[in-house]
Amino acid sequence: MKEPKQLSVSAIQNGTVIDHIPAKNLFKVISILGLDHIDNQITFGTNLESKKLGRKAIIKISDKFFEDADINRIALVAPDAKLNIIRDYEVVEKKVVEVPDSIVGIARCMNPKCITNFEQVTTRFRVVSKKNVALKCHYCEKITNQENLHII
Ligand code: CTP
Ligand code: ZN
Repeated sequence: MKEPKQLSVSAIQNGTVIDHIPAKNLFKVISILGLDHIDNQITFGTNLESKKLGRKAIIKISDKFFEDADINRIALVAPDAKLNIIRDYEVVEKKVVEVPDSIVGIARCMNPKCITNFEQVTTRFRVVSKKNVALKCHYCEKITNQENLHII
């Protein structure tokens, strides 16, 4: 028989649980989703044991259900994130995140001469590779890849 699991963060009644966030990127996820600007109850745990990630973080947002396009914005920093949609204490749906076709904001262009690095211009990229993330800048056309990816 499966042992009942000990929850490190209390169960929620309704809302979204984002699991398998790399612990080092927890605060980036919070910022990308704007969780620091909403009134919903939010609980999180970090530096939890994970076989896959080493150290993972989990965020539970009560009474919040995200649009896919919004949640996919975290794919750059939490590619293995798993979403659990909770209704009446039950997991009613599980989702994974997907790297979108384009990225607005979030990442910095690696080209120091790019206009986005010296003027107040929101960065825009076309995603040219999803697996080993490669972003082509809309302004200077230079490629920013995983190694030189900096989140704003
Ligand atoms: N959860 C929660 N509140 C609930 C139900 C579930 O916070 N009312 C959380 C659990 O703590 C877990 C996640 O939602 O982190 C997924 O729940 P569940 O599918 O029951 O757990 P697992 O079987 O461990 O799912 P997986 O292996 O897919 O992560
Ligand atoms: Zn650029």
